[in-house]
Amino acid sequence: MPKIEELINEIKKLKKEKNAVILGHNYMDYSVQLVSDFTGDSYDLALKKTDAKIIVFAGVYFMAEQAAALNPDKKVLSPDPNAGCSLSDSLDPETLKRYKELYPNAPVVLYVNTSIYTKALADYIVTSSTAVKVVKKLNSDVIIFGPDANLANYVERQTGKKIVKVPPNGRCIVHANYTRQLVELARRKYPNAILMAHPESPLEVLQAADFVGSTNQMIQFAKESKYNEFIVATEIGMINALQLKVPNKKFYPLVTTESCACARCPYMAMITLEKIKRSLEEEIYEVRVPLEVAQKAKEAFERTVRLLE
Ligand code: 13P
Ligand code: SF4
Repeated sequence: MPKIEELINEIKKLKKEKNAVILGHNYMDYSVQLVSDFTGDSYDLALKKTDAKIIVFAGVYFMAEQAAALNPDKKVLSPDPNAGCSLSDSLDPETLKRYKELYPNAPVVLYVNTSIYTKALADYIVTSSTAVKVVKKLNSDVIIFGPDANLANYVERQTGKKIVKVPPNGRCIVHANYTRQLVELARRKYPNAILMAHPESPLEVLQAADFVGSTNQMIQFAKESKYNEFIVATEIGMINALQLKVPNKKFYPLVTTESCACARCPYMAMITLEKIKRSLEEEIYEVRVPLEVAQKAKEAFERTVRLLE
């Protein structure tokens, strides 16, 4: 197997030859973050504009699908199209259609972790950094929201609106494992650290947190905070992004790979340097989204951006 440095150099060469960029999610492995032209949370990555001909999306499949829908003139490649997401898999278009019939006047707000076919049925598409702001701004007291039940509970708390969860129990297989007890253990182990939590975590963890936000919001918060040590309640790859972008501070994962296999998202972990290299070399796997589906999802996304302006 080629050494990591060799792989990184080969990927950099291929990017130049092919006029390609790599967009990497904050949860990517450290080596993948090193070859990424841009790293960020799902919101930033969705808005990213590029002159390159090819986008290799180093993230899970729904993110690559979204990039393909928003950049129809580019070739978008997924290094591994089997990199799914438990949230995205928990909501299909037919289920959402049934809820829309039950609550015909309620706007549909979908978390970005959904397939492009489900997104095409949404009025608004939000990320963990925009969900509360969008729901607050909507002129309705009842909102259909999916697929993350933890984020839905958090939005309900923050906005006081009635949130109809679709499905009732959608969960991220990583964040669903976090408990108040784990927080207490970590606080005892790291008495000088404060707790940052991703809103996909259960409410009991969010209530115990000193800061709740998306992966990018965590980076920003850590940079600006007067504190120097942080317990991080999100996927363990995030520690890489924090160390790269805030090198002068210390970050401890709430759950480590030694204590639970759930610390690492198995889908994010499927994106490796080898697969990125192959993807660029052979220009596989191209993500194609039917034009009509892409157009509807794009409209929902743009409507959301306008609402936030
Ligand atoms: P962010 O939007 O905060 O990047 O999170 C995406 C995700 O998949 C969280 O598990
Ligand atoms: Fe999906 Fe959770 Fe993995 Fe994020 S961490 S991609 S929400 S399974």
